[in-house]
Amino acid sequence: MSSISTLILAAGLGTRMKSAVPKVLHELCGHPLLFYPISVSKRLKAKLIAVVANPKHKEVHDFIKENGVVRVIQSKPLGTAHAVMAAKRALSRKPGYVFILSGDVPLITETTLQALLAEVQRENAVLGLVSMQPDDPLEYGRIIRDLDGRVVRIVEARDANESERSIREVNAGVYCVKTPWLFQALKKIQPTNIKQEYYVTDLVSIAGRDHLPVVALRAKDPEEFIGINTRADLARGARKMRHRIHQRHMLAGVSIIDPEQTYIDESVKIGPETTIFPGSFLSGKTVVGSGCIIHHGATLCDAMIEEGVTVKAMSVVEGSRLERGSVVGPFARIRPESRIGPKVKIGNFVEVKKSYFKQGSKASHLAYLGDALIGAYANVGCGTITANYDGKNKHRTIIGERASIGSDTQLVAPVKVGKGATTGAGATITRNVPAGALAISKKTQLIVKHWKPKWKRSKTRGKKARA
Ligand code: UD1
Ligand code: CA
Repeated sequence: MSSISTLILAAGLGTRMKSAVPKVLHELCGHPLLFYPISVSKRLKAKLIAVVANPKHKEVHDFIKENGVVRVIQSKPLGTAHAVMAAKRALSRKPGYVFILSGDVPLITETTLQALLAEVQRENAVLGLVSMQPDDPLEYGRIIRDLDGRVVRIVEARDANESERSIREVNAGVYCVKTPWLFQALKKIQPTNIKQEYYVTDLVSIAGRDHLPVVALRAKDPEEFIGINTRADLARGARKMRHRIHQRHMLAGVSIIDPEQTYIDESVKIGPETTIFPGSFLSGKTVVGSGCIIHHGATLCDAMIEEGVTVKAMSVVEGSRLERGSVVGPFARIRPESRIGPKVKIGNFVEVKKSYFKQGSKASHLAYLGDALIGAYANVGCGTITANYDGKNKHRTIIGERASIGSDTQLVAPVKVGKGATTGAGATITRNVPAGALAISKKTQLIVKHWKPKWKRSKTRGKKARA
């Protein structure tokens, strides 16, 4: 491939989003919109990747920096051609071709861009663009061809007359341009349109006037060029992106029971022979190993799930690791910095925070374990809690290997239950329990014979009194 650069336009105000957040930072399948054209540029091995940003969008500047690409500032958003012009200095040192992409067209693929460049080179054109025929051409720029079928002009929907508006072939907003010609031609663009903006689309008529060849690559799938202008577009774009993500996983051996109802971020990795049930959300840096079952309604965020793990219905795992063969849920909540060891069982209504359950240990029902270390094969009974917070500081609870924590035990941290030790049901443990010992906190059972609640007693008295 010849020397190529990419220029990503992202300085627009994005007013149609009705948002305080810059449009290109709105998320689509776990990444800001701007991530996608940057990442396609990286895959194309572009020599220079530059993003045109608005001077006021500080968060966009940070994102550009984090991604290690070049920032170009457009002083005022005076239109797409004005935005390209802002990159003159950055691009003039890079002869060859430049792809002009939009920060709001996230689904573009490298295959399309490679095909566009090949077409431009084959025809020795100064400019190549992608055209498409969506079912509803909406606000896209209409492509005007002459009687020989050559592209001569692009007219924006708002500037178009009735017959031009009825044209179904529209501009996808992706261009491949010969760099030295680009900057000569940009100088000729005037803001003679309803919005009084400098339109990059006017490059087409300028090339035509100078009898220089322009090519238009007809897109097979118009959905690849969905432009995100409103939140409704964002939902439509995300649906298309999800379809792509799911196809990739299914072709790699993952079973997704109902792809229409499964939500997997672009960044998530999943091993083969894993099954994902509907209503699941897998996000962030989540990695799921092979042979796992993720039941319906599971929410996994930045979770490391090793091989053969089962996450049962409606469980939430955040920033934690579930090791080989462990079973979590239904209705379990694993909060950040937890480690659920091999073959551990965490049952329903168990909340775990910043705790390590070692191999084979269990907390099968209704419990809260925070800042705790649970030894291998220990059993935590139903209703157990760690009282880990004294109102100021958090303290640790350590449960030894094969210890048995009786139902409804309160472990008042800092506290340690030794190896193989037992706590009695309902015990309040405030002091360390030695290995092999039994700890109970004495609560004597009291029996009141023939006892009736107060209201029953007064009723009886009332009846007697009346008699
Ligand atoms: C643009 C095209 C239209 C095409 C459509 C495809 C023009 C004039 N029109 O319209 O033909 O069908 O894309 O999606 O180019 N931007 C800047 N600085 C500016 C203005 C815009 O950087 O001064 C950026 C925006 O942030 C955005 C991109 O350029 O990422 C496109 O701008 P937008 O206003 O969304 O253009 P459309 O109306 O969608
Ligand atoms: Ca747009």
